[in-house]
Amino acid sequence: LSEAGNAKLLSVLGGKVETPPPVWLMRQAGRYLPEYQAVRTKAGSFWTMCMTPELAAEVTLQPIQRFGFDAAIIFSDILVVPFALGVDVTFEEGVGPRLKAIKDTKNLARDRPVWAQKLAPAYAALRLVRPRLDAGRALLGFAGAPWTLATYMAEGGGSTDQRAAKLWGYRDPEGFAALLDLIGDCVAQHLIAQLDAGADAVQIFDSWASGLPEAAFLDWVVEPTKRIVDTVRKAKLGAKIIGFPRAATQRGYEIYAQETGVDAVSVDTAASPEWAAAVLGSEVVVQGNLDPIALIAGGAALADAVATIISAMQGVPFIFNLGHGILPETPPEHVTQLVTLLRDKR
Ligand code: CP3
Repeated sequence: LSEAGNAKLLSVLGGKVETPPPVWLMRQAGRYLPEYQAVRTKAGSFWTMCMTPELAAEVTLQPIQRFGFDAAIIFSDILVVPFALGVDVTFEEGVGPRLKAIKDTKNLARDRPVWAQKLAPAYAALRLVRPRLDAGRALLGFAGAPWTLATYMAEGGGSTDQRAAKLWGYRDPEGFAALLDLIGDCVAQHLIAQLDAGADAVQIFDSWASGLPEAAFLDWVVEPTKRIVDTVRKAKLGAKIIGFPRAATQRGYEIYAQETGVDAVSVDTAASPEWAAAVLGSEVVVQGNLDPIALIAGGAALADAVATIISAMQGVPFIFNLGHGILPETPPEHVTQLVTLLRDKR
């Protein structure tokens, strides 16, 4: 954790209040940037970019060069873990990810060196980025959480109500727990290897943590995340971990903050900043939660939304981010406006 020793984001993850707060945006490298589109056209596909370290490193750095964010997040995808487990992944233009749906765990790869070999491009990309990023900025690794990855693996793609994974979990609790354990082992190994390759902190994306009964939230979101956090910390003492159980209920976020052991919790657009500051802020560092659509709007709406969040987060160790990923139609000038608004505030 040496090169980014004085990064503002790491100071906040260590419990300090920074004014103005550090800022980065989920999905900050992507289709809203013309320079990203240029690399993507040259590469031919999104997946090729993920699997080619030099290209992944290049697009990871693009939003830092343009906007001066406080953190770079390595360009990859949460679906590299199912890929490492032996499930082929393809991306269809305008459709999203496609996987071969699984009904049991028997054909999944359990061989750790095989996982490491399939995930190696991400580690190579991190090794290329760290020396090209200045010391004041943090480099983030990430992975999908077991529950969210299971929703894609059970369904064979995205879904609106996570039905296939829920049905598997309800009908065959032991088999589903075994699936979450296996995914969790691969995720933990992936996070540890990213920290070894130069990531200063990691984020766990549980994008489909919403809509679960409390018992299922505990078994499928909280427990598997806690297991990963424990495993990562055993291997990497003091590793900094951000969790994003997107759109969990207030009670769900509170349990997640208390039980999983993460250092920081990223909250979604609909979460009250006052509640997040007062309740979550007494347990963990808070990250969030500008509406990505307010960023598309820009102007006075954006300025108001930023002011509301900043005023709620006074005195709280806080990282400014969106409530969910940046949308492709976002004008890059609005992102510049956002960073200027934050840095002009005292
Ligand atoms: O944040 C970053 O900039 C780092 C890179 C990153 C990507 N995906 C790149 C990407 C990260 C952290 C992710 C996470 C991810 N991937 C999540 C969790 C976060 C979230 O938004 O809830 C999920 C659910 C995925 C799976 C995934 N990848 C989907 C559903 C899609 C297709 C949807 C779409 O927007 O087309 C992707 C593709 C993807 N991952 C793109 C990028 C930049 C778009 C690819 C392109 O067409 O160029």
